[in-house]
Amino acid sequence: MDDHHIKLLLKILLVFLSGGRASEGARVFTIVNYCKTTIWPGITPGDSFDGGGFALKPGESAVFTAPVGWIGRIWGRTGCDFDSDGSGSCQTGACGSALKCGASGQTPATLAEFTLAPLDFYDVSLVDGFNLPVTLTPVNARGGNCSAAGCDGDLRENCPSDLAIKVDGETVACRSACDVFNTDEYCCRGAFGNPDTCRPTYYSEIFKQACPGAYSYAYDDPTSIFTCTDADYIVSFCSNFKSKKQKVQRVCTYHINKLVCSASPGRASSIWKWLVVLLLCFTSLWSSL
Ligand SMILES: *[C@@H]1O[C@H](CO)[C@@H](O)[C@H](O)[C@H]1NC(C)=O
Repeated sequence: MDDHHIKLLLKILLVFLSGGRASEGARVFTIVNYCKTTIWPGITPGDSFDGGGFALKPGESAVFTAPVGWIGRIWGRTGCDFDSDGSGSCQTGACGSALKCGASGQTPATLAEFTLAPLDFYDVSLVDGFNLPVTLTPVNARGGNCSAAGCDGDLRENCPSDLAIKVDGETVACRSACDVFNTDEYCCRGAFGNPDTCRPTYYSEIFKQACPGAYSYAYDDPTSIFTCTDADYIVSFCSNFKSKKQKVQRVCTYHINKLVCSASPGRASSIWKWLVVLLLCFTSLWSSL
């Protein structure tokens, strides 16, 4: 076997040991709609995300790559009606009349927030209210307290009536107490403008109960913010509908043409991985003879 083939073998082994990752400067986002109805994700800044907005039918997913340095938010819009020019309206989350969002969405909306850096920070926030269940699942990560953020719980079902936004008698979103009552206590302003004085309230506790892994008020950091090194992310809307049908659900995404999944793939798949390595080694040996 000559030098060239030894190098090739080492390269193959390295790629497999590193999990197949070649690019450290970007994160892959897979946005999945498990809801029973079409949603229109909105993203700002949206340059890496199809211009910041698109329709996603039930069961569909969309994959994007965002560079490290991207600081942005992803939310879902519901009940939209856009014309062929991408102009229209939504029941919740609208960014003006545009399909492709150049600005934040209208509250109330569940927000997925990201700061992509060597150590990513991410969270789901209900500080601006709730319109859809959102779960963020990191995959292929290396460090940080890298676990799922957000929740499956649907706050529309137990939204206090003074916060509910209804369309035809059906609650389509739940406003924040700050938005409705506009007091310093609910908005964590003035004398309540720091983590010692701004405490959970009757309303924020209802939010936290429905969604333990998300910000229920502005200073809810300790249980709501997460960090990951070099992860990719799956942003799932309404993943509760999925889990009712299937008990153990792995969410998968393509990363540099390689399928990676959120849960531990288990023994079966690592055997496959090593079989592929062996096969590649043999092929390489064979061609060098
Ligand atoms: C994760 O780590 C960050 C940074 O150290 C910390 O602020 C946050 O509270 C941690 N999150 C959880 C849920 O433990």
